[in-house]
Amino acid sequence: MLEVQQVAVNYRGIVAVENISFCLTSGQIVGIIGPNGAGKSSLIKSILGLIPLAQGKITYRSQALSKQLDQVAYIPQRAQIDWDYPITVEKVVMMARIRHRPLFRPPSRQSKEIVKNALERVGMWDLRDRPIGQLSGGQQQRVFLAQALAQEAELFLFDEPFSGVDKKTERMIFNVLDDLKKQGKILLVVGHELKETSREYDRFLLINKKLIANGSRSEVITPENLQKAYGDNVILLTNS
Ligand SMILES: Nc1ncnc2c1ncn2[C@@H]1O[C@H](COP(=O)(O)OP(=O)(O)OP(=O)(O)O)[C@@H](O)[C@H]1O
Ligand SMILES: [Mg+2]
Repeated sequence: MLEVQQVAVNYRGIVAVENISFCLTSGQIVGIIGPNGAGKSSLIKSILGLIPLAQGKITYRSQALSKQLDQVAYIPQRAQIDWDYPITVEKVVMMARIRHRPLFRPPSRQSKEIVKNALERVGMWDLRDRPIGQLSGGQQQRVFLAQALAQEAELFLFDEPFSGVDKKTERMIFNVLDDLKKQGKILLVVGHELKETSREYDRFLLINKKLIANGSRSEVITPENLQKAYGDNVILLTNS
């Protein structure tokens, strides 16, 4: 179990996340929803230790998660990746295997096999020699999903994996999430466009700086909660 306890994140004195607590158990797809600027990415990054906590603590199996980050796979929000970096699809995915081998050693046969399986799983093996900068948005998302799979982590944190992907890719990503769920992994996914996909999630965290609601779809996606989080833009979501 992952426990997030009273977490706060500040940027130069400005509060982005305030006093958020929740637990994640294995075998569930948990969605984080909330408006732009609500602190979804900041919360995910603070769980990963990419930005410091102003307050609170995060534990996994009762130990500080910061000491077990090799258990965590992460897909950053698209805007935060340097797509001009000159590296091929296969090498991006192989980066996930670094902790599984001694420094400066070539990848093991097992790692190569895992990378191949991950790329096949997302339908990107044929494009393995392409530089990542020459892929479409949906293809790039697939590559980063493969990278997360190749890491063989226990916890998966995905920041808007569905942004800029077509329906087919969206379906494929949900299938992968379902597989991970069945394997008993812990899954936290920043969602978007809930109208059509909200049934794919087992639980939701609705945030806007603070945690507004935490529970099942029917508990969280209510007009009152959405009003609290989104103000007047609730029309976007209420018909789902
Ligand atoms: N590096 C930073 N420096 C200063 N402020 C930041 C930084 N990153 C985010 N913020 C601010 O923190 C708040 C939360 O941002 P965050 O990116 O976590 O929101 P989000 O919910 O992920 O939004 P989106 O849906 O647009 O991705 C925003 O007000 C944002 O302007
Ligand atoms: Mg974000």
